[in-house]
Amino acid sequence: MDNNKRDENMVRITTKELAEKFIDEQINALRAQIGDRKVLLALSGGVDSSVVAALLIKAVGDQLVCVHVNHGLLRKGEPEQVIKVFRDELKANLIYVDAVDRFLDKLAGVAEPEKKRKIIGAEFIRVFEEEARKLSGIDFLAQGTIYPDILESGPVKAHHNVGGLPDDLKFELVEPIKLLFKDEVRVLGKTLGLPDNMVYRQPFPGPGLGVRCLGAITRDRLEALREADAILREEFDKAGLAGKVWQYFTIIPDYKSVGVKDGLRSFEWPVIIRAVNTRDAMTATIEPIPYEILGKIVDRIVHEVKGVNRVLYDLTPKPTGTIEWE
Ligand code: XMP
Repeated sequence: MDNNKRDENMVRITTKELAEKFIDEQINALRAQIGDRKVLLALSGGVDSSVVAALLIKAVGDQLVCVHVNHGLLRKGEPEQVIKVFRDELKANLIYVDAVDRFLDKLAGVAEPEKKRKIIGAEFIRVFEEEARKLSGIDFLAQGTIYPDILESGPVKAHHNVGGLPDDLKFELVEPIKLLFKDEVRVLGKTLGLPDNMVYRQPFPGPGLGVRCLGAITRDRLEALREADAILREEFDKAGLAGKVWQYFTIIPDYKSVGVKDGLRSFEWPVIIRAVNTRDAMTATIEPIPYEILGKIVDRIVHEVKGVNRVLYDLTPKPTGTIEWE
């Protein structure tokens, strides 16, 4: 049997009971596969790697070593949440790597989007490799591969997988959710007790805010972007839009416009809001957001975010606009 193929009779995990059954089966299977050996996992805090971590913690406890690489391009509060949930609450063996300066130094002056993606991907592998080399006795590498990644259908783009590790670090793979669809992974996450904002997170690209801070990334614009994005998410949450809009985020261009702030001329960046709905990310429509909510977001961004004096709303469906700007 092809163990990368979902059996047509496989029951979809839609309820807590089905999730509990799957979790029990996986715990046994993982214990049988791993025995008393050690497993390494790159834990981004996204739903897939978080569910894999939670499953492995249940199955093999501190034989799991999680590495969380903060590349500086995560959303506000994300690295802190990974530490709180996994180290403090689930008692995971978690290595937190602050690689912010490394990534931002490598990205300095690089404006071409694909080059930025390549640098982020390659640096991620390098940081992970360095951490893996510091550890001894690792036999397995766990990955949050899910079924759409295997099918390669749709626009599932390069995840932060660690497939690019050198040959001497080619560990045996542990992929407990590789036959599951995203909605099933979310049911598992919920059943495993992960927080809702981790389980129901909107898709977030591997290169993170790096492809939303347009052109060559600078620290000041990146910080402004991160703050504006946090305000947008907070207001969408408050307005009950979080579950209704598939993906919503902000973008910051690398040019400024003239404005007035506190009676004085300002020359600052604009922030662009994008909020789209889609089934498969191949096409996307614009979600009509009530003007009052948009008005509140604009007001908060221009008053709370340093260096921003203008907010735009992108009304372009896909096609012709892709969801991301880079
Ligand atoms: P586009 O911009 O092509 O995006 O309409 C479609 C979906 O893919 C996500 N995306 C990425 N995900 N690495 C990722 O893991 C990437 O480099 C990347 N670029 C775009 C995007 O957020 C949307 O959900």
